[in-house]
Formats: sequence, structure tokens, C-alpha cells
Amino acid sequence: MTMPRLSGETDLAGFRQEARQLLAHQVPPEEVQWETVHTLSDDLLAQPVDVQAGEKAHELPRAAAAIVPASFLRLCEVVVLHHDAQRFALLYRLLWRLVHEPALRTDPLDADMQQAQQMAQSVRREMHKMKALLRFHPVPDDSHPGEVLHLAWFEPTHHIVEALAPWFARRYPALRWAILTPQRSARWDRERLQLGPGARREDDPGPRGSDERWLKAYRRVFGPEANPAAPVETAAAGQEAGIDSLEQLKAATMRCRECPIGEHATQSVNGEGRLKAPLMLVGEQPGNQEDLQGHPFVGPAGRLLDRALEAIGIPRDIVFVSNAVKHFKFELRGKRRIHKSPNQREVAACLHWLEDEIALVRPTALVALGATAARALLGRAISVTVERGKWLERADGLKVLITLHPSALLRLLPADREEGFKAFVADLRKAKAAL
Ligand code: URA
Repeated sequence: MTMPRLSGETDLAGFRQEARQLLAHQVPPEEVQWETVHTLSDDLLAQPVDVQAGEKAHELPRAAAAIVPASFLRLCEVVVLHHDAQRFALLYRLLWRLVHEPALRTDPLDADMQQAQQMAQSVRREMHKMKALLRFHPVPDDSHPGEVLHLAWFEPTHHIVEALAPWFARRYPALRWAILTPQRSARWDRERLQLGPGARREDDPGPRGSDERWLKAYRRVFGPEANPAAPVETAAAGQEAGIDSLEQLKAATMRCRECPIGEHATQSVNGEGRLKAPLMLVGEQPGNQEDLQGHPFVGPAGRLLDRALEAIGIPRDIVFVSNAVKHFKFELRGKRRIHKSPNQREVAACLHWLEDEIALVRPTALVALGATAARALLGRAISVTVERGKWLERADGLKVLITLHPSALLRLLPADREEGFKAFVADLRKAKAAL
């Protein structure tokens, strides 16, 4: 049995280097047992450490690199953050199989691949949750008179603190802050990012904890002196696991092959509109026209949506319009591409892109156009005919107005269309009224 040792829970560079050696020596996955050193445990690093701009991760052997798709390497970046102790074994098994079973590349139903995708999804979900829900508690900092320290407590399931700390540093560059979690902690002093050991659960000050309790929890991790002078540190490991702009999101969805739809579509079609829009409207998936033009809701359903938005006095350019699924799924009939609804697995695979979009746009409220969007946004199936016109709430507190998909109106008998359109407009009016 070979027992490679990784230097920490999220040691992707170490994993790549070890995997490279193992592959070069033809060591099959069943003869490998992965171990991680708890980097910040007492014996190794009781002190906080600066985050270094990471060395470039070790390359795979050339032959393997040619076989392993880039999408798998990106998947690894996220899966290593999962809490499952078997994640490195799973990734090495997949790597081995990608090298020895090329058909795996095109088998979206493979059990190992599905497990890795699900793990990545769980990590991404938690990353979104942490970005959306983390709240800083301002505490007067007696070691820097007149200054405020912003402290936050979070208990993630996965190893996401290190990967997300740079995101918080970019988001709040002008604040001095620290995030305390039972696994790892991070602090930013406006210049430098540091990682520290985990905080003790019994030190959790709670949302209404006194300033003293917050400071005590902070000092137990980072020590009494709060601001050692040091050069500026930059990027941290795992930075690429997050998406920070709509442009990055577009590049990522263009490459996405987490489900089979992307392979056949012309391009990914992401949402468009304003950041911080009052409303973000979410449909099902791009249609034929959208797929060809690369913009959402530009075909017949889009024209109907535009008319309805006009009717309530909200021009399309002040909202954000998107879809639950970013690629067009269709069936070829002769030369015609006929819309095919995405299945649940495909919607689930795309969900993290939609959540990235929501995190970037930060709309005041959401509108689910149809059942697929409602299910994706709420995480559960609902009956649109029963719930239409109602506001439901997501776990992150964002409100979702439920209504029909405009395509459903296009399918009505001509005699019923006017009535159907009025009811759709009435639903959307509720969205406007609530803003
Ligand atoms: N239907 C959708 O759900 N989205 C589009 O972008 C177009 C049609």
C-alpha cells in the first residue's frame, strides 16, 4: 500500500504532485491510501500563517495531461474542498480511470463522476451560502484606538475558508476583518491575508455576543497583538474556485460539460441585464433563437415577456433576465431543432451557475418563470398553477414570485391568449408592487 501524505485538507498542489508520481509508476488506486496532515493542528502550526501567492501547481505527466480534460482539473479544485475524507481517493480513481478508460470522458452517468459532481455542487452551494449569509460584527479594537475590527463566526461543513478568504478581501478591502470557524480562521488587515487555526466552538460569541466575547474568540486564534507589520500578500490557494464577474461566469459556462447538453449547443446563454437589478427573472433554458444569438429571451417567448414588462412599466433594461439552464437542449427532427425540457439532473448540474449569477447580480427579488425555474430557485418542486402570483422565500431570504413561463401562454388556444396574458401581467404587477 502506498500512503501519500498531503500537507493540508485542501492541498491540491500536493495531490497533483503525488498523483503525477503515482500515475508515472502505474500505481492503481486500490493500492493507494491518502492521508492529510492537519496543517493547523497544535503540533505543526499553532501560529497564524501568511497566505502566499501559491506556486504553480505541479503538472500532470504529459501523456495524462493530454487525456485529462480541463473540466476535470477544475472539478478537482472544488472537490478537494469537500469534507469527505475519501475525496482524494475518489479523485485519484477518476484520474486513473480517465487515463485508462478514455470512454469515461463522455459518460455523464458514471457513478464516480456523478459522485464528484455532487460533491462539487455541495461545496459550491456552501460557498454561496457563506458569501450570502456571513455577517460581520463590528468591535472597537482597543489595540488600534479609534478603529473597528469586523468579526464573523461561521461553521462550514466543507474546507472553504481558505478558498473564500481572498473573495472577502476583495469584497471588503478597506475593512479590518476576521472570519472565525472551527476548522480554520482568516483575517485581513487591509494589506495582508492571514490564515490561522480553527476557533473553539465554545468561544462562539453568538449573533448577540458582547464585544468582549467576540474579541476573546478572536484573540484566542490570532493572539493579543493584532497587526504585525509585513509586506502585502496577494492571491491564496483555491481562488479560482469562485466566480467574480459575469465575464468569468460566461467563460466558465462556455466550457461547462457537467451535463451532456453543452456538447451540442452553439454556445452558453447566460443572464443579461443590470447588476443590483430590482428584479431577476429566471426562465427555463435558452431556445433556438437564444442559442444562435447568444442572448436570453430574444425569441417568441422573449417578445411576449417584453410586452408584459412594458405593460407593468418596467423596461427590460432595468431588470436582469436569465435561465435555470445555460445551454439549449433540443432534439433534431430533420433540420429542425425541437426544444426538449432539461431533466432534473441537468437542472441540478447547472444550479451553481445560476447561484453564481444571483450572487453577482444581487437582485432585490426573483421571479420564477415556470416550474423549472421555481424548482431550481427554491430547491423543491412546487405547483405553478397553485402557487402562481405568490411570493415564496428561499433559504437565503430572497423572495421569489411564482408565475407561468411565457411559452405556456404561446401554447394557449388563440381564444384564451388575451386572458392568459392579462393574468401573467397581473402576476408581474405583484412583483413591481412589492419593490
Ligand atoms: N425560454 C426560456 O426559458 N428562456 C429563454 O431564454 C427563451 C425561451
